[in-house]
Amino acid sequence: MLAIQKIRDEHRSISAVLHGLKQLARDAQDARVKPGFEALRAMIRYIDEYPERLHHPKEDEHLFSRVEARAPQARALVAALKAEHVEGARLVRDLERALVFFEEGWPAGAREFLAAVDAYAEFHWQHMRKEENELMPLAEKVLTPEDWRAIDTAFDVNQDPIAGIRERDFEALFTKIVNLAPAPVGFGERWRKAGA
Ligand SMILES: [Fe+2]
Ligand SMILES: [Fe+2]
Repeated sequence: MLAIQKIRDEHRSISAVLHGLKQLARDAQDARVKPGFEALRAMIRYIDEYPERLHHPKEDEHLFSRVEARAPQARALVAALKAEHVEGARLVRDLERALVFFEEGWPAGAREFLAAVDAYAEFHWQHMRKEENELMPLAEKVLTPEDWRAIDTAFDVNQDPIAGIRERDFEALFTKIVNLAPAPVGFGERWRKAGA
């Protein structure tokens, strides 16, 4: 099933960026070393836009609605996951605000930024776990081959030029993050001590 594989792949990409962001937010606690804010901005843009514009809409429209139609007992689970999509968008606004304060007030704001990163990462990991451990096994049980054909077609970006373009944009952004973020997260330059 193409759709299930794609959702899992997208969860891996989001997780990779979240892990990297957590690591860099911890590194950014050293007030003597100026963080590379361009990398932090690119990461937050990714975890904001990728789930928001590509990942969650596909889950909502194609997967959740069909699972709900075939399995009325899934109604509460689907409602909770949809509510989390809305809540996630709000939490990411907090994260963006924390980054703006941190960048403008550096070295002040580092702790608040780390707290916002941890809160968002924890929230999103719980959400993805619920989808993978509860929603997907149910989908595999109740959906028919016709359901899967329709869902797989919707998830196949080659059939959807707009989604295809968006997907390529996010791949480019992911590459940019890898090139900007310092080791061990990426291949970018190490953050230096101020004045060094
Ligand atoms: Fe989701
Ligand atoms: Fe998801």
